[in-house]
Formats: sequence, C-alpha cells, structure tokens
Amino acid sequence: ADTLGAAAAERGRYFGAAVAANHLGEAPYVSTLDTEFTSVTPENEMKWDAVEPTRDTFTFGSADRIVDHARSKGMKVRGHTLVWHSQLPGWVSGLGTADDARSAMNNHITKVMQHYKGRIHSWDVVNEAFQDGESGARRSSPFQDKLGDGYIEEAFRTARAADPAAKLCYNDYNTDGINAKSNAVYNLVKELKARNAPIDCVGFQSHFNSASPVPSDYKENLRRFVDLGVDVQITELDIEGSGTAQADNYSNVVRSCLAIARCTGITVWGVTDKYSWRPGGTPLLFDDNYNKKPAYDATLTALGGT
Ligand code: G3I
Repeated sequence: ADTLGAAAAERGRYFGAAVAANHLGEAPYVSTLDTEFTSVTPENEMKWDAVEPTRDTFTFGSADRIVDHARSKGMKVRGHTLVWHSQLPGWVSGLGTADDARSAMNNHITKVMQHYKGRIHSWDVVNEAFQDGESGARRSSPFQDKLGDGYIEEAFRTARAADPAAKLCYNDYNTDGINAKSNAVYNLVKELKARNAPIDCVGFQSHFNSASPVPSDYKENLRRFVDLGVDVQITELDIEGSGTAQADNYSNVVRSCLAIARCTGITVWGVTDKYSWRPGGTPLLFDDNYNKKPAYDATLTALGGT
C-alpha cells in the first residue's frame, strides 16, 4: 500500500484527518485528503455554536458539505462533538435551571445525531470533561454546573437512542499517558461500564509538543482502557517539531496503536501544516505546499506501507 489510508486498511484501521469546510475549494487540499485518508472529522463545523446557534434552530450547511464530500469519496466520518464546555453559543451558558439545561442538552444530542443518523462511525459524545492537573476534578460547564456528574451518563444514553449504530466515545487531551487526569477518565469509564451505560470508545486526542511529549507509557495507557471493554481511537494527533525527531514520534504513536487490537483508527488534526490550529506550528504530515514530510514517510512505514 502506498497511501496512509490503504496501509491502515490492511491493518484493519482507518486513517483520518480533521477537515475544515472552507478549504474544500482548494485543489491540492482536496486531492491530498482524497488520496491519503479514509476518515474525516469536521474540525469545527459540528460544534454546538456551528449547528445550533439559536435554540432549536439547526444549521448544518458547513458540516453537511464535509460529510457529503467524505461519503462521495468513500471516506468515513467521525462526529465531533456533542457536549463540550467550549464553542457554545451564548444561549447555552445562559440556561437557568437544571431542567432547562437537561432538555437543551438532550435535544441537541438527539437532533444532531438524527440528522446524521447512519452516516457517522463514531461520535465524540462528551469532550474534555475533566480539569488538567492533579485534582482529577470535573471541569466547569453549563452541564456540569447545572446537572452534576450524572450529565455524562445521561448524554451517552440519549446518544444511543438517537443513533444506535454509531460508536459512542468519550474524548480528551493530556490523557494519553498514565496520570491523574487519565486516571479520572479511567474511573469514569469503569463506572459507566458498571452501570451498563452505552459507552463504546475512548478518544485520545494526542496533541504533543516539547512541553507535552509522547508519553513513554502511551501504549500501556491505551491497553488499560481496552481492558475495561471499550475501543480506543487516536482522535486529534499532531506532534510539534520537524525532521527525524518528529518522524520518530509519529512512528511511535502508530506502532502503539497497531499493538492494541482494539485501537481502531488514527486521525491527524489537519491535512497540512498550512492550516494547523497551532499558530506557526508544523505538527502535521504534509507541509505548507502539500509535500510529504519525513513524518509522513515514518507514518506510512509504521503502518506497513511503502
Ligand atoms: O468562525 C470564526 C470566523 O468567523 C472568524 O472570521 C475567525 C477569525 O479568527 O474565527 C473563526 O472561528 C475560529 C474557529 O476555530 C474556526 O476557524 C475560532 O476563533 C478559533 O478559536 C477556532 O479554533 C478551533 C479550536 O478548536 C477552538 O476551541 C480550532 O480551529 C480547532 O482545531 C480546535 O480543535 C480542538 C478540538 O475541537 C478539541 N480538542 C482540542 C483541539 C485543538 O484546540
């Protein structure tokens, strides 16, 4: 296999990229996407502020463009994300009572998932619910603050009812190694499984840089989650740096996923360095001119391609 997607497929995995709708008119962006990747994640277009800017009025235009493009090329789609503290429209932050917050959350999950029913392989149902650092505490959000810890289980139950075929994931960052934050997520998943709540997968965002390098216990961490009975996915991979060091880090991440039978796919957080969310950063597999970087070659090789 001589593309990322084809090589990953031979290992039974998808290989995806985050995509922004406003780049779908750029020919080299689209040709790189279509040639190399087998899954897409809308980078911002499915977030709450994009799809429900006004209560119960849904605007799916930009997200639909990505989904339609992906499906026309035979690519799968990851849904990102339903319940998150960030990129919320003002009206959500202003919800007054617990009942109001509950009905808004459940309506949002239901309507968005029904719109895309049958077309999303995995949904990030809840994103980034824990604080950074040692506390293991939940992060403040309108849902956490009004509904308490139980909002996560409720969100997953609502999601299962809305699209029973989609894999339902919890997704977070700085949880890639074994640490206080990933311990908190681990305990959440364990509790959800014990309560027969419908969680299928955990997403490890895997945003790495010199301050937050690929952890030495990355694979071990993936394995302990799989041992709870969920799939794991690498959902937002990007690694700062360049040259051989960056290439080695990509190779390490890919080999870790392949070593875990239930690590079902890898998504990089963008097609090209040109449009990375990291300002001025070069964390991806293609440079500003869509040339393959050493990190690309290392990733392809680690996947078993040539
Ligand atoms: O939509 C407006 C546009 O109208 C305006 O002209 C422009 C000017 O700055 O801003 C646009 O919004 C930006 C949006 O991206 C779309 O480009 C926001 O300012 C900007 O904050 C937003 O950044 C996104 C970020 O999430 C927001 O939290 C990044 O693109 C996106 O890559 C990033 O993705 C997150 C994942 O969803 C969750 N995990 C972490 C990851 C990286 O931060």
